[in-house]
Amino acid sequence: MTKKTRHFALALLAALGLSAATVPAGAQTVTSIRGADVSAPEVPAGAYKVIPDQAPIQRDFVQQPPLIPHKVEGYEVSKNFNRCMDCHSWSRYKEAGATKVSLTHFKDRDGGELSNISPRRYFCMQCHVPQMDTAPLVGNTFQRGAGLRQAQ
Ligand code: HEC
Ligand code: HEC
Repeated sequence: MTKKTRHFALALLAALGLSAATVPAGAQTVTSIRGADVSAPEVPAGAYKVIPDQAPIQRDFVQQPPLIPHKVEGYEVSKNFNRCMDCHSWSRYKEAGATKVSLTHFKDRDGGELSNISPRRYFCMQCHVPQMDTAPLVGNTFQRGAGLRQAQ
């Protein structure tokens, strides 16, 4: 952080009513919102296995972004190209045998309809995640299917 950006950051914190003490200064002190230590969250190379392609995975609650049931290695999502839309767009999904992107993905933040994927939804893997066989980075008590069972 340069001196200038640090000043800006401190001013921003002051505006938010926070002090610099509440913000971790270095990687050593990073914790999750629930207080779990996530100082070194990177999974060491080789400590996870990409799960082979499978059928669509059952959703656990109604608003869940469906999990990605296939490999995504090397799929480019950049300013110029979105590999996901190569198969999941409304013009291509039939040919690819893929699920078409949800209609909700064509709305801007005010609910207005767009003819192209909304910039809010452009980076698919902010919400949709591929599947790895590995230990969770942070422990949790989530139970698969519990939400949908309650809703029924
Ligand atoms: C080469 C074509 C192809 C590409 C590229 C591709 N997908 Fe898929 N995707 C598929 C197919 C085929 C399925 C499975 C559909 C089925 O079996 O019903 C699928 C399934 C999915 C599903 C599950 C849908 C559901 O209803 O459960 C998600 C989410 C998904 N893909 C996201 C992505 C994302 C994000 C990317 C980019 C990183 C991507 N896909 C790139 C072909 C593709
Ligand atoms: C901000 C989070 C977010 C982003 C970014 C996002 N999605 Fe989604 N997606 C969701 C949620 C939540 C759902 C389930 C509810 C719904 O349909 O809106 C969903 C549903 C889907 C479905 C299933 C549609 C169906 O009819 O069952 C597909 C396929 C999909 N998304 C693909 C994509 C692709 C491809 C991208 C990138 C171009 C993307 N999504 C970006 C949150 C997101």
